[in-house]
Amino acid sequence: MATQATYPVEERIVQTLRHLGIEQAHFAASMPRDWGGLVITHPEVVSSLTLVCPMGVNLDALRANTPRLLVVTGDQGRPAQEARQIVGDLPGATLITLRNYFSPPWADVIADRTPDVGSALMDFVARIDQGRMGRAGVLSEGEGELADISYSVRGSGPPLVLLPLALAPSQWQPLLATLSRRYCTITLGGPALGMVAHLEARAQSGYLRVVQQLIEEARLRPGEAVLEVGCGSGALVRWLARHTGGANRIVGADINRYLLREAAALARKEGVEGAIELREGNAEALPFPDNHFDVTMACTVAEEGDADRMLAEFVRVTRPGGRVAVMVRSIDMPWWVNLPLRAELKSKVEGRGRLGGNVQEQGCADASLYRRFYQAVLTQVKMLPQLAICAGGERLEYVKERIVTGLKSEEAGEWREAVARADAEGTFFIAEPFHCAVGTKP
Ligand SMILES: C[S@@+](CC[C@H](N)C(=O)[O-])C[C@H]1O[C@@H](n2cnc3c(N)ncnc32)[C@H](O)[C@@H]1O
Repeated sequence: MATQATYPVEERIVQTLRHLGIEQAHFAASMPRDWGGLVITHPEVVSSLTLVCPMGVNLDALRANTPRLLVVTGDQGRPAQEARQIVGDLPGATLITLRNYFSPPWADVIADRTPDVGSALMDFVARIDQGRMGRAGVLSEGEGELADISYSVRGSGPPLVLLPLALAPSQWQPLLATLSRRYCTITLGGPALGMVAHLEARAQSGYLRVVQQLIEEARLRPGEAVLEVGCGSGALVRWLARHTGGANRIVGADINRYLLREAAALARKEGVEGAIELREGNAEALPFPDNHFDVTMACTVAEEGDADRMLAEFVRVTRPGGRVAVMVRSIDMPWWVNLPLRAELKSKVEGRGRLGGNVQEQGCADASLYRRFYQAVLTQVKMLPQLAICAGGERLEYVKERIVTGLKSEEAGEWREAVARADAEGTFFIAEPFHCAVGTKP
């Protein structure tokens, strides 16, 4: 077997299913990295694919193999627009829109719209199973882990594989009892899948350098207590634990129990669990007393809620003289894609905000971060827009896929040729902009 790092995710999934005695299943997912390779390499395993609030789509995979496809998404803003575009490009795909719903990757869609998503998914799968007896599952219920994929089996009936739902705090939980009355549900998780794999890959790219610079500007000293709000899979707190070698108290807080469980498992695997405290908590109402930490930091979290309320909380839990350090994605600065493209295509690829992702209504993903720091009465504010360089690895593949999804087919051809030439020369990289600020509590 290839090493853990290079063993493709689709092979891990197939290996897990074989271990469970499953040859074919319905799949429901959100992130293209989880299902793209499977659809390309093992189409025979996929009876149907349901994408719930998809975080991007691997259109090439779907065009080449056209699985029976259902897309469920909100009807508002950018996610709705992208889903309509995807389904419009794929004849035969079905789109169900949830009314009055904004569905960025952090939407807790199953908790928010349990009956709507439940009936859309079950009606779709039932239509596909109609006429051919869905194979009754003979699996015993239980849990396990294989090749960095955890599984939990529940119920009986045709197998339905539930892949992680991006940043949704409840994941599939609110629907599990209903689904497992009709299907043998196999819920997959672990570090090889979903948002955990995504965040871990990002933390191995130039993103970490931007975080390092932020921490340097925050002048974290030995003996000081540091809080990372919105720690996700814990990639940054684990890095801090290694970097500080036990000299600091390190606390990670997140609203998402699924990610906190995965963060705890990764910390155990790396042997740093004793150096990190993980706590469930909402950035807008943190479960810590006033003046508790020397440094409070948050990296790409303020996009996902009420940024001013978060900032007020960061200031509250930081002691006077302590520092607040925040970085956010940037939708007001263009990316740099190091390819000699036609000017029109280049500006389309790099366009302001195009790759910056979703932002909640009260969220912050722009230069308003600096004004917000002053309004939060922080002093000695350092304003540090930075670029994260990505020249290879999974993060680059993810960004490339997102770029291609928005291009017409002739533009995509031009893009691919330019990437191939630059890859051959070794000059291809992408730079992603972030706004970063560090301020001192008076
Ligand atoms: C994009 S991830 C970033 C994770 C980590 N900071 C990193 O850079 O790898 C955003 C994280 O913020 C968390 N988050 C979003 N809103 C939150 C809130 N109101 N309170 C606490 N955590 C929140 C999400 O659950 C998620 O783990």
